[in-house]
Amino acid sequence: MSDSSKMYDVETYIAEIYDEIENYIDDVLLIKKHLGNKKISILEPFCGTGRITLPLAKDGHKIVGIDNAKGMLDLYKRKLKGTGLTSENVKLLKKNVLTENWPTGFDLIILGGNCFYELASKKEQELCIKKAYKSLKIGGYIYVDNDHMEGDLDSNWQEKEVVRKSLCGTTKDGSIVETTRKTIWYDIKQRLAKFERRAKVVKKTGEIIENKFIQQKHPVSAYEVQSWLEKHSFKIKNKYGNWNGETYIKDSPRAIFWAQKKG
Ligand SMILES: C[S@@+](CC[C@H](N)C(=O)[O-])C[C@H]1O[C@@H](n2cnc3c(N)ncnc32)[C@H](O)[C@@H]1O
Repeated sequence: MSDSSKMYDVETYIAEIYDEIENYIDDVLLIKKHLGNKKISILEPFCGTGRITLPLAKDGHKIVGIDNAKGMLDLYKRKLKGTGLTSENVKLLKKNVLTENWPTGFDLIILGGNCFYELASKKEQELCIKKAYKSLKIGGYIYVDNDHMEGDLDSNWQEKEVVRKSLCGTTKDGSIVETTRKTIWYDIKQRLAKFERRAKVVKKTGEIIENKFIQQKHPVSAYEVQSWLEKHSFKIKNKYGNWNGETYIKDSPRAIFWAQKKG
């Protein structure tokens, strides 16, 4: 089973850069449109630093977040300070989403922010839908939101030996963060690619920390997500193509599902 949390886990350095770059809230607004006034219990596997769930906790919903990167969870905890929210409102669990159990009894499970792009195969992605079914109350909802990457593998996933930068920047204390990705193998037919990934931090003190690992990805299709939801007893209520809530079409930038657990 894969675990790409290493990519995000150099103390809170990479988490800080993640928050600087990935600070959009369009998906949070789309989720809020479905929630009404009732305060509910929400589980977010792959919660990161709370980009999605911290605003929902501030609205009064009860949150449980799961992530395997201590650095991401530590920054989430830091952001909770001074909000008046306690572990009663937001509970954070350091676990591998794929290999460990998820808590149960939730009204909503969020699989957002392209989290399926953290995973190595269809099998791992489907497993998350299966686990979500187990963790929801009957009648509870699931939100699944990914890039819409159909057809052949994206051409830039096929460029072997090209080093592409992803999360890069300078943290508030002057430390330099650089993360990169280089394709080392791909299979167009199976829609799979393997990357050599590096996460490097040069601390203000001069100390250098470097994580290097191999990551495999499968760009999930809208068809796959829909078929797993139907197979695992969810009723699809809405299928959106963007965060404005417009209906999904073939050329939509995203594939977003709002579905309900059947009895
Ligand atoms: C792209 S971030 C998304 C964070 C958040 N959902 C958002 O939208 O801002 C993906 C997160 O998934 C976590 N992650 C990746 N694989 C994981 C695994 N197998 N188990 C637990 N967490 C994992 C990473 O540590 C990272 O914090």
